[in-house]
Amino acid sequence: MILLLYYRMNYMSSTEVIKIHFRIRPPTDDRFLVINFKTYLNATGSRAIDLARRIDKVAKEYPTVRVMIAPSVVDVLKVAEVVEAVDVIAQHVDPIDPGAHTGRIPIWVLSEYGIAGALVNHSERPVSFNELVNIVSTLRRYGMKSIVCTPNVDASRMATQIADFVAFEDPELIGSGISVSKAKPELVRRNVEAIRAGQAIPLVGAGISTAEDVRASIALGAQGVLVASAIVKAKNVENKVREFISALIE
Ligand code: G3P
Repeated sequence: MILLLYYRMNYMSSTEVIKIHFRIRPPTDDRFLVINFKTYLNATGSRAIDLARRIDKVAKEYPTVRVMIAPSVVDVLKVAEVVEAVDVIAQHVDPIDPGAHTGRIPIWVLSEYGIAGALVNHSERPVSFNELVNIVSTLRRYGMKSIVCTPNVDASRMATQIADFVAFEDPELIGSGISVSKAKPELVRRNVEAIRAGQAIPLVGAGISTAEDVRASIALGAQGVLVASAIVKAKNVENKVREFISALIE
């Protein structure tokens, strides 16, 4: 099906008209834990490998929850070689075709190495709406999943028309340790509702730190959470991952 979008994203400076192809997704009740390694010191280099192994070990105990990890772009291929149960995704990709491009992240190469998808439009790596649409359709062309991050209801409403997952993240609470699902439940509810009106699977992120925060996200209609600091900086990573996964399936 073809959809004409005439929309304005938060990060855009002008309005654009874009024609995209999209597909209808069957409903699913699967639960998802998406862990962004960002570029925290203890989640990069050899420490990224160690962190990924710890998460993978716990993920094997819970086959009913889909766990995805997003290591930094320089770690992603090595990490993919050492894990079995988790899906490895990129933190950002560029919608380019083979050819003369320098310093870009080519989607087809990630696909060749078994990378399952990518975060798109994270508030720490925003893209224009035009680029977002191109990234999502290129990912789809290579059989990879898109997890589009959105900062508000308008963006969620738009992103759900094209993405596989939409992760609403309140930029103010990212990395704060204050969970968006507890601090701003009404905002989460409205974003989840907007995402569910389209085809994408709704996720929630920003400040998610405890099992209670995860439960609150699910109670507000999300099917999973997008987290970083609570797991990356945890004293005991295995226990924290176990805590989050258990809360997802309670
Ligand atoms: O990508 C996840 C992220 O932006 C949320 O970060 O540290 O608040 O869990 P954090």
